[in-house]
Amino acid sequence: MCGIVGYIGEQEACQILVDGLKKLEYRGYDSAGVALLNENGIDVRKSVGKLKALECALENCVPRGHLGIGHTRWATHGRPSDENAHPHSDCTGKLTVVHNGIIENYMALKERLVSEGHEFKSETDTEVAAHLVESYYNGDLAEAVRKAARDMEGSFALVIIATDEPDKIVAARRHSPLVIGLGKGENYLASDVAAFLKHTRKVLFADDDTLAVITRDGVTLTDLNGNVVEKAAQTIEWDAAMAERGGYEHFMLKEIHEQPRALRETMRGRLAPDKDFIELPGINLTEDEIKKIDRIIMIACGTAYHASMAGKYAIEQLCRIPVEIDVASELRYRDPIVDDRTLGIVISQSGETLDTVVGLREVKEKGAKIVAITNVVGSMAARESDGVLYTYAGPEIAVASTKAYTTQLMVLYLIAMYFAQVRGTISPQRAAELRQALWDLPQLAEVILNDYQSVIAAADRYYCFNGFLYMARGINLASALEGALKIKEISYMHAEGYAAGEMKHGPIAMIDPTFVTVAVTVQSKTYDKMLGNIREVKARAGEVIAIAYNGDTGIKDYADRVIYIPQTEEIFSPALVAIPLQLMAYFVAHNRGPAIDQPRNLAKTVTVE
Ligand code: AGP
Repeated sequence: MCGIVGYIGEQEACQILVDGLKKLEYRGYDSAGVALLNENGIDVRKSVGKLKALECALENCVPRGHLGIGHTRWATHGRPSDENAHPHSDCTGKLTVVHNGIIENYMALKERLVSEGHEFKSETDTEVAAHLVESYYNGDLAEAVRKAARDMEGSFALVIIATDEPDKIVAARRHSPLVIGLGKGENYLASDVAAFLKHTRKVLFADDDTLAVITRDGVTLTDLNGNVVEKAAQTIEWDAAMAERGGYEHFMLKEIHEQPRALRETMRGRLAPDKDFIELPGINLTEDEIKKIDRIIMIACGTAYHASMAGKYAIEQLCRIPVEIDVASELRYRDPIVDDRTLGIVISQSGETLDTVVGLREVKEKGAKIVAITNVVGSMAARESDGVLYTYAGPEIAVASTKAYTTQLMVLYLIAMYFAQVRGTISPQRAAELRQALWDLPQLAEVILNDYQSVIAAADRYYCFNGFLYMARGINLASALEGALKIKEISYMHAEGYAAGEMKHGPIAMIDPTFVTVAVTVQSKTYDKMLGNIREVKARAGEVIAIAYNGDTGIKDYADRVIYIPQTEEIFSPALVAIPLQLMAYFVAHNRGPAIDQPRNLAKTVTVE
């Protein structure tokens, strides 16, 4: 996720900006840049790579100025490169912007601006903002930004400076973070307080659709129509490390809480309540090609493999296309049957997992088209695939994958519904119900995250047990495996995920009073069978936690504890079930004490076979 900084005041701004960007490094980035305003205009310096590269570029000739903006870029549109790095300027070079977020309608805006004669230098959605503000600029920067913001759909924290108004920074935001730091005779702004905490703890959090005009001596907030907005300053008590984690104790917990936002970002531009169709431009398959597909092979490792398990159910159910799923490290040794009617779907948060990339090449060489689902623009998986659907989760820092998983599910659901739409395998009415249910998913995730006392209480009871068994049926088998993997990764406890129907074929032998079973009971068709499995565990003195839908009061008679989640369509339920299971793993590990964000023996990205 991009990082933004800004400074206006007495001091030379450049070092303050670079120091601020260093504090935002944890957000992940692939390039960085600064823009300083001085009597000669706006001096923009940027480079691909880490901040070290930018510092080298600044070394021999530090740009001067008491007002400046800076940026670390996490690519979403256009590969990481010097040209795509921020800041970006308009045609005249008199306006310069940095941006965090995704401007969904940037293609339409770009076409309009190109037809008006604007010339673009990068592939980014951000550059559109620079030219859009230019098109409205008439000597009043704030008003031009307000007009541009009204035209833009999607999410943005936009910060802009202009040579003709050298006494101010103008910023606007919608859905992307932006906080203003209040100093004496100087002011700051950033994506989060970590960037300026050493200078000031007094802050203003701007609301959605707010515009801020920041001068040395003050800040004026307005809505996008120019009405003044009053906002009280707050004092931040966090230390610097805590500020990076947004006030959470660990990145994992922060990332769990980011899921509603990440899900929304991943839906944006693809699904909308006022549209009766799904759009997936990145998939790069014609309708004819989609109709021709007679087999799908999904390739992934670890958590991404669990996403593929749920994806298989969704695609087979909605599109009636047979789906094979493969742990990537096994795929090439089984000589899979592939031809030009096969579609390979590669799922990888990093896009760099070597086994997954090798699997991709294997299937591609055999003649399949490949679509990658990845979180990292320009990653190997993205580069080597025919089409790419990004998960807009933002960088995932904790080794244990959370928001990457649920956003991978989201993309798989979108693919299933898109293919069903093209192939006509579900009725328009069913398609509408599913679109609505998918649209509601982030809000239901929010409901879970607003109150999870029952999860904490369960973790407090079971963290010293001998092991966890997760059982489920149908599409939530993926949830059982993912729940067990989360516990293993961060608490080093024995945990297994099993199809509940397999219990009697072995795992039930493990049940005793020191073993807890987590039973996912949200499937209607197999609900009674799950109750039977719970009874069997209870009969052997095992304890049971049920993950059940709100309103299922009867389940209390079977399980020792119940964790309730809101109801959704069955095929989407793994995205909600995942959240209490992630939280359970987190709080169990928290009670046991290991390093949650960086568990022993694990790397975030496995780049060896
Ligand atoms: C899950 O919590 C993991 N850390 C791990 O299983 C991960 O999902 C796997 O290594 C795949 O990574 P990728 O998505 O970057 O390819």
